[in-house]
Amino acid sequence: MTALPLRLLPDTTRVDVDGAVSVGGCRLDELAGRFGTPLFVYDEAHLRARAEEAVRAFGDGAVYASKAFLCRAVARLVHEAGMRIDVATGGELHVALAAGVPAERLVLHGNNKSDVELTLALRAGVGRIVIDNDTEFDRIENIVAGGAAQPRVLVRITPGVEAHTHEYISTGQVDSKFGFTVADGAAARAVERARQSAVMELVGVHAHIGSQVFRADSFAAALDVIASFSEPFGLPELSIGGGLGVAYVEGESAPTITEWADALVGRAKRLGVRSMIFAEPGRAIVASAAVTLYTVGAIKHIPGVRTYVAVDGGMSDNPRPVLYGSGYETFLPRAATAERDMTIRLVGKHCESGDLLVREGRVPGDLKVGDIIATPVTGAYGHSMGSNYNKVLRPAVAFVENGEARLVVRRETYDDLLTTDLG
Ligand code: LLP
Repeated sequence: MTALPLRLLPDTTRVDVDGAVSVGGCRLDELAGRFGTPLFVYDEAHLRARAEEAVRAFGDGAVYASKAFLCRAVARLVHEAGMRIDVATGGELHVALAAGVPAERLVLHGNNKSDVELTLALRAGVGRIVIDNDTEFDRIENIVAGGAAQPRVLVRITPGVEAHTHEYISTGQVDSKFGFTVADGAAARAVERARQSAVMELVGVHAHIGSQVFRADSFAAALDVIASFSEPFGLPELSIGGGLGVAYVEGESAPTITEWADALVGRAKRLGVRSMIFAEPGRAIVASAAVTLYTVGAIKHIPGVRTYVAVDGGMSDNPRPVLYGSGYETFLPRAATAERDMTIRLVGKHCESGDLLVREGRVPGDLKVGDIIATPVTGAYGHSMGSNYNKVLRPAVAFVENGEARLVVRRETYDDLLTTDLG
């Protein structure tokens, strides 16, 4: 059987008897016709369900990691569902505030926060700042001395555990640019410095071991280290970061947010942790909420070698296959249940051979130029890591629900390419 595993599609997906796919009550082929391609289509009910699940699981400790996907509409949606929001740069902070999210609900991250970013955050009154290094202590002290309000802070520690994920997205190991190392005493010194400081209130310890982590034992090992480090300080909060993996292709499966929370919160209780547990899922909230629609522009069959299918996007709307070797499925929204008996390589329109979206994709044998082709599970780190490489325009983003579709990010125009170009 080579049909698409439908469980990879957003929650409200429906497939007609003729195989046509709808999400949020909107047919995907019609959305492509109405808004053009490439197009990110997000299932709003799916997003809300995951955000609400995170709030049920972690209560007021549920934080959405906005780097996974951020625009004003998604910031409002997760805020209204009750999540706090993690922002890792001044840019993310700016968008979250512009969405109307109260600063108090924001958590500021980053391993190199500038004076400008910290000043913006402190003036706005962000709820938490996660301190990453000693220079940042100095910066915060100077800015508060200059009149800003005292922040609540957490100290980011590096617990020294391997997350068993791609090297580029592992952060818990000792050899990391993030945080204060537990093993050499730097973390304990940082907690002491924050406790002694008259210009900040230390509320907790934070750690994040990596992203796209499937193994509960990696999270458990990290929690053991973090909890035994932080418990003696008797702080009210303990943040275990994000990183819960999601299934991208057939054969993969991942714990749900509820299962992840039960394992972590249960273990914390058994370890005697008294602090409130905070968690920062990004990918698990948004990844499988979206599909990307492309139009097939060219098919090149090299007999005995392979078939290349070229679409109107590429590494500029989804750099994950090129960066991390990540796999995706492919399907035709006009025939989602058809047998996918042809193997293809789905490539983009950028001027380099590395520009591939799906190394080994499967499609029905009647695929033709002009077809709409889709990749599921593209809601996280696709649009947010997009670029204008080759001056390709960034795609539009549509939210769909109850048969209504609305654009939340419009497609760029050629004139947008000149807005920062001073000639
Ligand atoms: N909290 C912190 C401090 C983080 O650094 C991250 C992700 C998260 C939370 C959210 O992790 P998530 O739940 O989304 O796994 N571009 C890569 C992922 C980079 C993740 C960076 N930090 C990818 O496409 O796989």
